[in-house]
Amino acid sequence: MKVWCLFLTLIHAGVALSPPKPILQCDPVFLNVSGTVWKPYKLHPNPKYRQLVLEGAAKIQDEVLHRMALKIADVGTFIWVKNASTLSVVEEAATNSPCDHIIGVVLHGMHKSDCSSRQFQPISAKTYQESYIDPLQNILKANPRTAFAIIVEPDILSTIVVNSDIQSCRSLATSFDINMAYALNALSAPNAVLYIDAGHGGWLGWDANLKPGADYFASVYKNAGYPSQVRGFAVNTGGWNSWDSQPGEFATTREAPRNRAQNEKTFVRLFGEMLGQAGVPNHAIMDTSRNGVIGLREDWTEWCNVDGAGFGKLPTSEGTGLELADAFVWAKEGGISDGTSDPSSPSYNSFCGRATAFKPSPEEGEWNQAYFEMLLQNANPVIN
Ligand SMILES: *[C@@H]1O[C@H](CO)[C@@H](O)[C@H](O)[C@H]1NC(C)=O
Ligand SMILES: *[C@@H]1O[C@H](CO)[C@@H](O)[C@H](O)[C@H]1NC(C)=O
Repeated sequence: MKVWCLFLTLIHAGVALSPPKPILQCDPVFLNVSGTVWKPYKLHPNPKYRQLVLEGAAKIQDEVLHRMALKIADVGTFIWVKNASTLSVVEEAATNSPCDHIIGVVLHGMHKSDCSSRQFQPISAKTYQESYIDPLQNILKANPRTAFAIIVEPDILSTIVVNSDIQSCRSLATSFDINMAYALNALSAPNAVLYIDAGHGGWLGWDANLKPGADYFASVYKNAGYPSQVRGFAVNTGGWNSWDSQPGEFATTREAPRNRAQNEKTFVRLFGEMLGQAGVPNHAIMDTSRNGVIGLREDWTEWCNVDGAGFGKLPTSEGTGLELADAFVWAKEGGISDGTSDPSSPSYNSFCGRATAFKPSPEEGEWNQAYFEMLLQNANPVIN
């Protein structure tokens, strides 16, 4: 803890200790994003998720599973900022994290519904800026001795590229361009590294989407004025895809010949090369929180509470086997529901009722103990 560094300093100086105060004793952070930040820094456990995991662990009778659950409490996991109230969790983490930890934040303020649906309403620039970006920027400024890694807006860029023929998605693009430029500038603080979410191989990995995706990414980056702290892109955020399975989970489908990105490693390589050619920072992080088991879905579009899933590789910068891939991270908080399986709920999405989705599942954002225990049981590699 930061207070701990203070203790050492005081003991060393022979000063009598007064009650500990959260005085930060870490050095100011300047992240040089021409290199990876995942060697010096380790992902910090999300304090809110940690609490849920500890409560979940307390309910487990089986000794082996209980011990596994306790291990998860200490795994670094991103904090999802979906509304202004979750910003307090980011503040809490920033205040208490050790000097060599980096706070992971998934900025998820824009995507309130699917842009291809008729009800879709893009968020206004004013609401977006005032509710999400300005407060998050203030947290970065107030914690100059804490490092932050931010995944910017899961799925949005890919949604726009893939649905470019749908009018409501074009209107999302207009608001996205404005909001992204604002967000990337505001959050491009010396103590932050930014990864723009690029979906996964099942979206931008199609031969027909790679180039438009990279071009759009480049235009967003340029439009924002080349913000200094962008390191590249995030893949598989909240997703289920394999990093390097061969030939790939959906490689035998009829459409497969039109998509070479049958695993995320290939997607990062193909998309990263294209971004590099477009003059855009092109290093990636990959969410491995729930991809321990593959082969569970009927198709790539299934995103909700996949049944039979297991925790995947723990966060690490080792072993990606690709210079463009900085690290495996846990972006999704495994055990938190993606959406309710109750068809009578106003927020019900039919993907959460599919044959391959876990049931029953509570509303999005709520804890699902049974799902958490399944992730533990099916973890690959095994948690020990
Ligand atoms: C950042 O790192 C690169 C090499 O990785 C180096 O060339 C550059 O001078 C560094 N920038 C700063 C501001 O330290
Ligand atoms: C904000 O998000 C959190 C986590 O998803 C949720 O528990 C909470 O109810 C939300 N608050 C509001 C005001 O929507």
